[in-house]
Amino acid sequence: MMKMAVSSPSFFLFLILSFAVVAFAQHHSTHLHFYALERFFGSPNPTVAFSVNLHPESPMEGFGNLGVFDDIILAGLDPNSPVIGRLQGSTANTDLTGHSLTTIINLVFTAGEYNGSSLMVLGRNQVGGLSDRSITGGTGQFRLARGYVLSRVVNVTGTTVIFEFDVYVTQ
Ligand SMILES: *[C@@H]1O[C@H](CO)[C@@H](O)[C@H](O)[C@H]1NC(C)=O
Ligand SMILES: *[C@@H]1O[C@H](CO)[C@@H](O)[C@H](O)[C@H]1NC(C)=O
Repeated sequence: MMKMAVSSPSFFLFLILSFAVVAFAQHHSTHLHFYALERFFGSPNPTVAFSVNLHPESPMEGFGNLGVFDDIILAGLDPNSPVIGRLQGSTANTDLTGHSLTTIINLVFTAGEYNGSSLMVLGRNQVGGLSDRSITGGTGQFRLARGYVLSRVVNVTGTTVIFEFDVYVTQ
């Protein structure tokens, strides 16, 4: 009798559903929203530098240029908002049309709930548009993270640019 009960279709359905529930329960999503402040090269305390500058006349668009940045992550749009981390990485001008950059970003949190944790973000920065980049991993509380990052420019002054970030992390 037991053997028959174990091999019944409903038992297997129950098993499959149980695994599905466990798999679902193991994943959780986090949405983070913040801003990144970049100070241009040439401004008093630049947060961006070009290590290879084949096109000084247009460093952001020049094919072959390589840059590094260490931008400030702010909780709000106001430049005086609390600093919650750094956006540290590099850019490569890999687009002959100058419309995008290939970026490698360490999104490092230095305050708040995620202080000490980081996200690895890879992908294409769409110059002047919405960028959609991949989260390929993380450290600390974000170990084994996956997800995506949407960002766009929301404020430009003579010496700074502010990006708005929406980060969707799945673990
Ligand atoms: C963040 O964590 C570091 C290392 O544990 C600590 O020294 C620092 O005070 C923390 N910063 C904030 C703002 O909590
Ligand atoms: C950009 O930010 C600066 C400094 O906060 C502010 O004075 C300016 O009005 C902002 N510009 C736009 C277009 O929002």
